[in-house]
Amino acid sequence: MEAKLKKLLSQAKEEVKEIKDSQLLSDLKNKYLGRKGDLAVLLKDIKNVATEERPVIGQIANEVKKELTHIFDKLEHSINNDGSSDLDFDPTMPGLRRELGHLHPNTQVQAEIEKAFAQMGFTVFDGPELESEYYNFTALNIPEDHPARDTQDTFWLEDNNVLRTHTSNLQVRMLEKYGAPFRGIFPGRAFRNESTDASHDHTFYQLEGLLVDKNINIGHLIAVMKSLLSAVFQAEVTVRLRPGFFPFVEPGFEMDIKCLVCDGLGCPVCKQSGWVELMPCGMVHPKVLENGGVNPQEYSGFAFGLGLTRLVMMKYKINDIRLLQSGDLRFLRQF
Ligand code: DAH
Repeated sequence: MEAKLKKLLSQAKEEVKEIKDSQLLSDLKNKYLGRKGDLAVLLKDIKNVATEERPVIGQIANEVKKELTHIFDKLEHSINNDGSSDLDFDPTMPGLRRELGHLHPNTQVQAEIEKAFAQMGFTVFDGPELESEYYNFTALNIPEDHPARDTQDTFWLEDNNVLRTHTSNLQVRMLEKYGAPFRGIFPGRAFRNESTDASHDHTFYQLEGLLVDKNINIGHLIAVMKSLLSAVFQAEVTVRLRPGFFPFVEPGFEMDIKCLVCDGLGCPVCKQSGWVELMPCGMVHPKVLENGGVNPQEYSGFAFGLGLTRLVMMKYKINDIRLLQSGDLRFLRQF
């Protein structure tokens, strides 16, 4: 009987070495010390032991029980909350790497552009995303019947407010507030009520620019745009200018860049055309200057509405705009 007890103890000591999680530990404890466990079963045989030997065996049994309880308790204590044991903690192992986030590709490009503009003397401004019809449309010389006001494109809110459809909403706000001369950029979100595909999303980022001063002409506009694009792409990119109509500029242009995703061969981003509309721009319409309280006889200026999201797609060769706001970490970790 004594031999059996000792064997039970040494066997338990062996088995416990393998245990690293609390569930297995409690199973093992039960197996040995439970009401129907090995120790209890063994002790049933005590009735077969000679009467005078019983106290000795009883004492040995008690000691075995005490020792096992101690071993199990100690192990239980050292098994951490996450189920891992620090019994075999190895201080020479490298530590766990902490997961660090990083800036969204959009934010990265925005920061680069802000830096490039800051070097040209532009200040960065912020403004409301929930906008009045006046600043989003009327102040920008967008007539009542212009298709841009169509409910298909605009998220209309109560009281004729809108989710701004472009960052141009800040043009007149800024002129009213700061007057001329003015040099600023307004990066931010814009919203369109339209169905999404690889190159359209309901929410996207634009970066509006506005420069108003004396004797400003198209040459200034082109020079600023060129230095911006080379700063962003760190290389000469191929651009083309086409006439474009926007009620708040006259003349207005579309600046396209050769698609960098497919290098002009045609892909879903450029709708197989090889070119991507990147930057509508133009000379600020006299009416807009007037609405901002600036005298168009004295001042002129240019404005542009850079498609920040598009630029990000070009830069990183992303072929579906919806990935950017998907929140998918497998996608975001690439940048
Ligand atoms: N706000 C226009 C849009 O989102 C883009 C635009 C065109 C902005 C011409 C400008 C500009 O500043 O001059 O469609």
